[in-house]
Amino acid sequence: MSDWQAKEGLTIAIDGPSGSGKGTVAKMLAKEVGLPVLDTGLLYRLVGSVALTRAVALDSAESLSGLVDGLLVSIDWTVDGIFFEGENITASLRSEQVGEAASRVAAQPLVREKLLGLQRLIAQAGCIMDGRDIGTVVLPDAPAKFFLTASVRERARRRWAQLKDQGGSSLEAVVDELKMRDQRDQERQHAPLCQAADAITIDSTTMRVDDVVDRMLGVLERRGLIQAAA
Ligand code: DC
Repeated sequence: MSDWQAKEGLTIAIDGPSGSGKGTVAKMLAKEVGLPVLDTGLLYRLVGSVALTRAVALDSAESLSGLVDGLLVSIDWTVDGIFFEGENITASLRSEQVGEAASRVAAQPLVREKLLGLQRLIAQAGCIMDGRDIGTVVLPDAPAKFFLTASVRERARRRWAQLKDQGGSSLEAVVDELKMRDQRDQERQHAPLCQAADAITIDSTTMRVDDVVDRMLGVLERRGLIQAAA
């Protein structure tokens, strides 16, 4: 059982750049407060991945739009991950190549618009949602918004540590890739990565994950959004 009880239908937005630890923190917080967690990056990754497989141009709004229409009727997005054609394909979406494709298709306004309705529908019953535009666009009325960040070097170091077991790139190459990804996510015209005016920033560069989660729990409790479970 969770240590905390969340208010019915509570939505919590966690945004931040690649490698800021959003996913890990969102999962831990979800466990503490008993809410489902939805990683919206997976949706963009799915679009990017299928576009790569089907050789659809990553900057062709028209082709991507048709592809997303097809995907919306064939995916099942659950707390256990994304099921596509009956198979949980979440793990296959985590590669760097798919992340890069996701960042490119995410720059297409039509793709974002089509995925918006699905995200809002899923949030209706209450959830923790992590992404880039959750506090600003997807759930602007969420009663708790966090913007999680860390220095580019620390974010690259975390990603590099994950990749090096698979014989991945050098730390310097990961720093460069992350800078490019940041730039694309921040500079796109439609729903760029930016902090909502009412979001609380947490810089995790020198913090442990547990401390980040504790800080979030403190905010939620002070706002009366969670209470200690009986
Ligand atoms: O969080 P991630 O690395 O899995 O996200 C992959 C890409 O998807 C990222 O480069 C930006 C994009 N994205 C987005 O534009 N909006 C979101 N809400 C989530 C992800």
